[in-house]
Amino acid sequence: SGCVGSSDLSASVSVPVIDLGLLPSSKDEQGKLKLALCSGGCFQAIGHGISNSFLNKVRGVAEQFSQLLQEEKQKYSRAANQVEGYGYDLVVSEKQWYVICSDLTLSRRTVSYELNSCREVLHEYSIKLKQLVDLLFKAMAKSLALEENSFSDQFGDNPVMHVRFNFYPPCTRPDKVLGLKRHSDRSWITVLLQDEQVEGLQFVKDEKWITVPVIPHVLVVKLGDQMQIMSNGIFKSPVHRVVTNTDKLRISVAMFNEVEPEKEIRPVEGLIDENRPRLYRNVKIYASFNYECFQKGKVSLEEVKFHA
Ligand code: OGA
Ligand code: NI
Repeated sequence: SGCVGSSDLSASVSVPVIDLGLLPSSKDEQGKLKLALCSGGCFQAIGHGISNSFLNKVRGVAEQFSQLLQEEKQKYSRAANQVEGYGYDLVVSEKQWYVICSDLTLSRRTVSYELNSCREVLHEYSIKLKQLVDLLFKAMAKSLALEENSFSDQFGDNPVMHVRFNFYPPCTRPDKVLGLKRHSDRSWITVLLQDEQVEGLQFVKDEKWITVPVIPHVLVVKLGDQMQIMSNGIFKSPVHRVVTNTDKLRISVAMFNEVEPEKEIRPVEGLIDENRPRLYRNVKIYASFNYECFQKGKVSLEEVKFHA
């Protein structure tokens, strides 16, 4: 059933733009970061130091995968209840491909010769993004007057990074399809490389959907639920969705960072006081819990909240 009424699609409004190159030294930029994360929970990152040509390579390997023959893609199909592999998401009816990067090597499967370049490019991309998120979580902790490692102490020795290629085929009646239905990410942070031309990602702002504009050479950073929990609700995990359009395929590459699955996470002590009581209980294996809630139509952040 449709979810896109023309009335709820406001014109593209910009999401804050933050220069990561300035973050370590500029108080202004640190202030902007804090404001962005406390209000919308997302921003467009510039100054990230990853070249345009490399970002195009990342898009290129996603495109290359989308162009493989169906039989070839099926070789990587996702098994029931698994996150890794190629598949159609039954709920949202698009094709998606997940690759788990464990200890920064891609995939536990053997990939065909054609996909070797995909493996190499994603491996390099994951190393670059690791540096980017390391810088960010330190800046986030500092912006709340916490020790630099207050958040990262909770990640465990083997935090998980996984990548998903999202393919949104053109659709003659975009008003009749869900696209990627509304959700928040279960990660602690997601870095999204949007399609170079085609918009589609939307966030809720003041009860309206706003479209994230496509800006060349930018990475969209959004916080996920794990960060909202660790920050005791100060930082927001934004609700977002993706709509399709009539004539163009849209490809995006999302990189999700999650804490080590078995590691228990909790609100950082320094963010709990009389004025801001503890909002969330300790949580373990949040990823699967979030998935179960999503399937039952429940909001997992609400389920782990203390209710007075
Ligand atoms: C996601 C997501 C956004 C996009 O994969 O969780 O929100 O633009 N993707 O594809
Ligand atoms: Ni998402």
